Amino acid sequence: MQQKIEELVSRFKKDIEKAADSQAVENIRIAYLGKKGFVTEILQGMKSLSHEARKEVGKSVNILKADIERQIAQRTEKIKEEQLLKKINESERFDVTLPPNFTQGSYHPITIIQREVEDIFLSMGFTIEDYDEIVDDYHCFEALNIPKHHPARDMQDTYYIENGQLLKTHTSAAQNFIMRKYGAPLRAIFPGRCFRNESTDASHENTFFQMEGIMIDKDISISNLIYFMKTMLTEVFKREVNVRLRPGFFPFVEPGFELDINCLICGGEGCPSCKNSGWLELCPCGMIHPKVLEYGGIDSEEYTGFAFGLGLTRLAMMKYGVKDIRDFNSGNLKALSQFTNI
Ligand code: PHE
Repeated sequence: MQQKIEELVSRFKKDIEKAADSQAVENIRIAYLGKKGFVTEILQGMKSLSHEARKEVGKSVNILKADIERQIAQRTEKIKEEQLLKKINESERFDVTLPPNFTQGSYHPITIIQREVEDIFLSMGFTIEDYDEIVDDYHCFEALNIPKHHPARDMQDTYYIENGQLLKTHTSAAQNFIMRKYGAPLRAIFPGRCFRNESTDASHENTFFQMEGIMIDKDISISNLIYFMKTMLTEVFKREVNVRLRPGFFPFVEPGFELDINCLICGGEGCPSCKNSGWLELCPCGMIHPKVLEYGGIDSEEYTGFAFGLGLTRLAMMKYGVKDIRDFNSGNLKALSQFTNI
């Protein structure tokens, strides 16, 4: 019996060393310790032994069992380690001398252009103002000479929320607040996110950015408006930009205009981008309506002013040649990471 046990020990040692994966170890465990395994076989053979001999053999078998279990556990551990090592070796080795391969983050293109335009206006004596995104009907419409039921309200598809509050449809919503805050004379720009309940396509988004600008002083005229817009655009596009004004209707300006710039792709010759007109529509603007000045607590007899609503999103599309406005809000890193080095 003792001999049988010794034979079993040496056989087990060979078997377990050969086991290459956890399945092979499990098979060995069943073969030795299972219900019909070799150890059980020995235990069954003990029946024919004397009481004394059985005690002896029983002891040896218990030691054998514990030893087998220990070796199985060790082998399982070893296999795990080997597999891990193999995985590490197969994967790329980490070379500490290599420079780190981090993807560089970047500002959003609209932030880039916003800051650029802000810097230009700052240098021309304008202040930068901030305003809420949730506003009331008074600021977004009434104080801008758009009374309730005025057809001009249909121009802007508004997201209404509770208690007469709404998402601002244009940055003009801050005009009254800023006029009341500072009074005249006044030069301010106020960039902001605007919302309109529009169906989206390549050139329409329900969320977009504008930058409003107002300048109020004695004797401000359309030529001041043209001068500031031309200077700003020439700086943004880093080349001479021609502008023209076409009549445009907005209840809060009189007269109101659409400001166009000469197409930067064809230089004004006419191409598909400008629909062969040589001009691109960029920015609605005009002379602030006297009523709007009065709503803002400014004497319209003494002061005049201009206002513009620059489409920052639109400007970014033009400057960077972005074809689909939806790329800006998509979170598509492939589209946005192109601005890393700007
Ligand atoms: N707020 C207007 C719009 O978004 C644009 C605008 C601003 C027009 C300032 C004139 C003056 O439609």
